[in-house]
Amino acid sequence: MKILLSEKKIQLRVRALARQISKDFSGKEVLLVGVLKGAFIFMADLARKMTPPVKMDFVRLASYGSGTQSSGKVKFLKDLETSVQGKNVLIIEDIVDTGITLQYLYQRLQARKPRSLKVVALLDKMERRKVNFQPDYVGFQIKDHFVVGYGLDCGEKYRNLPGIYTLK
Ligand code: PRP
Repeated sequence: MKILLSEKKIQLRVRALARQISKDFSGKEVLLVGVLKGAFIFMADLARKMTPPVKMDFVRLASYGSGTQSSGKVKFLKDLETSVQGKNVLIIEDIVDTGITLQYLYQRLQARKPRSLKVVALLDKMERRKVNFQPDYVGFQIKDHFVVGYGLDCGEKYRNLPGIYTLK
């Protein structure tokens, strides 16, 4: 395991993202939509540094394909418990890889007529993109490494590490 992003570096970046997002949503209530499981730690840190009033909800999605490759077929394993209609919604993801998961979620939520819909992803592996999707806010652009920690797992392990590591 090799350190890619230290706890300190992540916390500084999360604080800067929270400041920018708070400014953009100033005076508006925001519904934070966390994508389980990976986003839970990032969401917890980001939410605690945001100043506008927030509500929180979660989705869980499954993408089908062989092994680690997304096939492009995504479905809800767990949908939202609240309506997004007329609300300012911010989707929170740990990582964008092919973009298939976020594109699917974005389209599904957009169809429910939110007032606004934005996306923040802590990590962006741009070179892996298969669909044309770009989050509104990104923490770090990273190369095509397998990464763990800060919510990201390998066989469900390492999600609790405070830093982000590349795995051989
Ligand atoms: C990861 C990540 C995104 C998705 C990104 O989730 O959290 O949801 O993959 O990949 P894509 O851009 O190629 O669609 P994962 O399926 O590993 O589930 P987890 O968050 O529960 O670990």
